[in-house]
Amino acid sequence: MTYSESDSKYKRYTITSALPYANGPVHIGHLAGVYVPADIYARYLRLCGEDVIFIGGSDEHGVPITIKARKEGVSPQQVVDRYHEIIRSSFEQLGISFDIYSRTSSAEHHRTAADYFKKLYDKGVFVKRSSKQYYDEEAGQFLADRYITGTCPHCGNEHAYGDQCEACGTSLAATDLINPHSTLSGNPPVMRETEHWYLPLDRDQEWLSRWILEEHKSDWKVNVYGQCKSWIDAGLQPRAVTRDLDWGVKVPIEGADGKVLYVWFNAPIGYISFTKQLKGADWEQWWKADDTKLVHFIGKDNIVFHCIIFPAMLKADGSYILPANVPANEFLNLEGNKISTSRNWAVWLHEYLQELPGKQDVLRYTLCANAPETKDNDFTWKDFQLKNNSELVAILGNFVNRTLVLTHKFFGGKVPEAELDERDAATLKEMAGYPERIGRAIERYTFREALSEMMNLARLGNRYLTETEPWKQIKQQPDRAAASLYVSLQVCASLAIVCEPFLPFTASKLSAMIGLDKQGGDTPLWRKAAECLLPAGHAIQTPELLFEQIADETIAAQVAKLEAAKQANEAAAWKPAPVKHDIVFDDFTKLDLRVGTVLECSRVPKADKLLLFRIDDGMGGRTIVSGIAKYYTDPSQLVGRQVCFIANLPPRKLKGVESQGMILSAEDKDGRLVLLTPDSLVAQGVNIG
Ligand code: MF3
Ligand code: ZN
Repeated sequence: MTYSESDSKYKRYTITSALPYANGPVHIGHLAGVYVPADIYARYLRLCGEDVIFIGGSDEHGVPITIKARKEGVSPQQVVDRYHEIIRSSFEQLGISFDIYSRTSSAEHHRTAADYFKKLYDKGVFVKRSSKQYYDEEAGQFLADRYITGTCPHCGNEHAYGDQCEACGTSLAATDLINPHSTLSGNPPVMRETEHWYLPLDRDQEWLSRWILEEHKSDWKVNVYGQCKSWIDAGLQPRAVTRDLDWGVKVPIEGADGKVLYVWFNAPIGYISFTKQLKGADWEQWWKADDTKLVHFIGKDNIVFHCIIFPAMLKADGSYILPANVPANEFLNLEGNKISTSRNWAVWLHEYLQELPGKQDVLRYTLCANAPETKDNDFTWKDFQLKNNSELVAILGNFVNRTLVLTHKFFGGKVPEAELDERDAATLKEMAGYPERIGRAIERYTFREALSEMMNLARLGNRYLTETEPWKQIKQQPDRAAASLYVSLQVCASLAIVCEPFLPFTASKLSAMIGLDKQGGDTPLWRKAAECLLPAGHAIQTPELLFEQIADETIAAQVAKLEAAKQANEAAAWKPAPVKHDIVFDDFTKLDLRVGTVLECSRVPKADKLLLFRIDDGMGGRTIVSGIAKYYTDPSQLVGRQVCFIANLPPRKLKGVESQGMILSAEDKDGRLVLLTPDSLVAQGVNIG
């Protein structure tokens, strides 16, 4: 039982979440954009007593996967087997409550996708076209999608792909790229003739325009609507739905050897094939009944596929319903920079779960509170700590803990009998308004607002408890203390229900502590959260803390990890400095370079960068000061070493010491200075040249 009228006509909900490519683990950007909101929605609807299926799975085809396999020298199947398992188990540990998490390499999926294509093919939906496409002669392969890279004609990014520029987000055709080359051989490609089947989206222009631009003008998110509008306004073009590749679902018709379904034709059919795996013969009502609400949770880079292309495929079949909503999110950044898999600029879910065990709800909370619902948003570790310490611990955790501890202290761990005064009744009345307020926000897909309303209920409890002061009243007016804890306990019970979509681990811990019975009855649990659920005399368990402070060191370790990734990127991007302008040979001969042996070496007092060398130069010796102290922390170890130096620089005073020359060193890419030493012992003072 939901609240909004438009939803009351639905008997069941099919909730899908974008199928992540199984070419790498899942990171916080995926979670905030897709899986956390989808899970909140699914959990909420179940608490409302609705019939829900929540579908997820791995997208195991597509060029990103074959490229990864090539890079690692393993088969695509090995790549997807590895990442499917990592992704599946990390979602499970985060409490993402999929009813099924399957994979597109499954036999059921191959069959369903092939049949889907075949039905449309038999209906004459596709147009066959021949065209010239990029081909790599050395690799003997057509260069679909990400097999080709080049410069983006819109923003100048030199690493744009044949299907999309990730820098500016524009979707591209391979032939748009400037200076294209193959990612297989690195060679510029040649053009070769090939044939493909196209979904003629131009024929869908009219109904799509009506369906999205008119019917969904007010209920789809502005960012989603806007992207659809610009596609539709530009005029829809036929899209090829087959590719010349060998990893994928084979095109199920004669004369299509070496061709597979385009990954974006294939993958969304996964939602359907996984429903078949989940529901067996009963699957059809979840996709074909008018009283089923179909909702796709995705990130903004998936909008066109879920709002235009997949609906066109569903319509072409003719027996399917269309999505009622596609609440796509924008992107989450990390510490001010775009999340990037290739640059390892990410917080990976499977690592988070290992490094911060038991803190699933803290991550869920932070990601929902910062969800990029209307614009890109930023995740920082400092904010993560703040949200934990000053919201989860200080508000929700503190309220629950105070209530339960005081109940044990004053009333033997039993809900006290209470006579309510006006303030008590008003507090309970206010509490009763929250389930609907939170529910409506979830039904509108404004999950941040819903979460903050949930916390407002905890704030209400906290404030009430502080104001009614049962720890004082217990002596003066014990009846008042009883009422105060009675009311506070009811708020705890309500919270145990309404926090569940957001904080499922906390919800079960809290429910267990207060002995809340979540079973039975005709009224859905969510509605019950408006009532007083703990009768006088009901026993509660010994309280445990719901949340713990997160220490500065924990945060510092995570920040340091990111800093290390940044440095590794900089090192990887390092290039030798460009060669300086030519000089005449004479210029070189003017320079007097020599070899000498270190006789003494010590730090220069009050100068942390400088070392003082006494050098045997075969000519009576000289003193040289050199700025390498940071890299040679034990100067005595340099004694006896031969070094190279410039002998004819004018003397120079450094920190009060006269330096008679300059010792040569190489500067490594991280800025580290390394002394140059001759390959074997030579006489003191010999020339270098
Ligand atoms: N694998 C795609 C991505 O990560 C999403 C596929 S969603 C599906 O962008 F619906 F097509 F499966
Ligand atoms: Zn671009």
